[in-house]
Amino acid sequence: MKILVTGGTGYIGSHTVVRLIENGFDSVIVDNLSNSKEDVVDKIRQITNVRPAFYKADLLDKESLSEIVKKEKPEAVIHFAGLKAVGESVALPLKYYHNNITGTLHLLEVMQENGIKDIVFSSSATVYGKPESVPIKEDFPLSATNPYGATKLMIEDILRDLYKADPTMNIAILRYFNPVGAHKSGLIGENPNGIPNNLVPYMMQVAAGKLEYLRVFGDDYNTKDGTGVRDYIHVEDLAGGHISALKKLAQRPGIVTYNLGTGIGYSVLDMVKEFSGVLGRELPYKICGRRPGDIDECYADTSLAKKEIGFAAEKNLKDMFVDGWNFQKTAER
Ligand code: NAD
Ligand code: UFG
Repeated sequence: MKILVTGGTGYIGSHTVVRLIENGFDSVIVDNLSNSKEDVVDKIRQITNVRPAFYKADLLDKESLSEIVKKEKPEAVIHFAGLKAVGESVALPLKYYHNNITGTLHLLEVMQENGIKDIVFSSSATVYGKPESVPIKEDFPLSATNPYGATKLMIEDILRDLYKADPTMNIAILRYFNPVGAHKSGLIGENPNGIPNNLVPYMMQVAAGKLEYLRVFGDDYNTKDGTGVRDYIHVEDLAGGHISALKKLAQRPGIVTYNLGTGIGYSVLDMVKEFSGVLGRELPYKICGRRPGDIDECYADTSLAKKEIGFAAEKNLKDMFVDGWNFQKTAER
């Protein structure tokens, strides 16, 4: 079965393409390389011995997308392509709405024009806004606190409306919690340009000596040690969740929505302690003020994904740091 993977040279997309190949799927990557590099395609070949088809194309260019789909004839789509930096989305909302919403509309139109009914969409735990309690279940109220989150919520709504209009579609909305780590080969992982916004990439650069210390954003949250608590999931586990979702779509379930997390919340200080253990030295940090917009705690109730698609994360926090650090060191060489 052939899968169109938008954003397939990106962080989560590349790990998912590896899993697709390992599970006997053919994949066709479409990516405009705005946040990834073409050499990822070769890295995927090194890992799997298979070179996936790759097209450098922008979802905003509907004609090119249409040509690729007509030529490759994929039977299903996994849609990762999108811009994802929360802070940048506040500064450049039009760029985010245009890229994420218009890009998705083009993709869905091209799917419709070519009779493709199955899609897996990368949503985010950000759609729960500031949750009233944890763990978070899929039927909790949804809200957006920034333009990036608003694009995820709007795309979810578009998919729900599309399903109402065409119940022969099969749609899996996957709400990721905090993806971290890298492929165990050290060949693919997350390597953001400039100073990272997210916790684990920042910690990696502190460990590599590129940044002096970690700034812990607030120690006065309503959590066990006062620092923010999140549900970190190994990107390889997350990639596996897409295979489970595709298998579910093959049973023609209509529209389904699942949290993909581990169900375990770790604080920033838990993360510092675990990574220091992996490094064999203390990771330097300083307690600083809160980052605007951050919430106390966010972790998943994973029971629905376990029950309906048999999804359960297998890797622990130590694996996430060992593999992430291995990738960081390989990327430096
Ligand atoms: P990423 O930036 O590494 O990958 C996204 C890819 O999409 C990039 O390779 C980029 O070049 C491509 N892209 C962006 N706009 C495009 C366009 N118009 N046309 C073609 N390609 C385009 O990000 P990621 O971490 O792999 O995230 C993948 C998806 O998962 C995104 O939709 C993101 O919002 C979502 N998500 C990510 C996280 C996270 O923390 N990483 C959490 C929740 C949800
Ligand atoms: N943190 C620090 N110092 C840093 C960076 C982060 O203390 O330098 C703290 C934050 O305050 C938070 C925790 O580490 O408590 C995690 O922060 P991240 O920026 O790594 O992740 P967030 O949970 O804030 O957000 C991420 C993505 C969002 C996505 C969300 C849920 O950036 O886009 O996960 O998937 F919506």
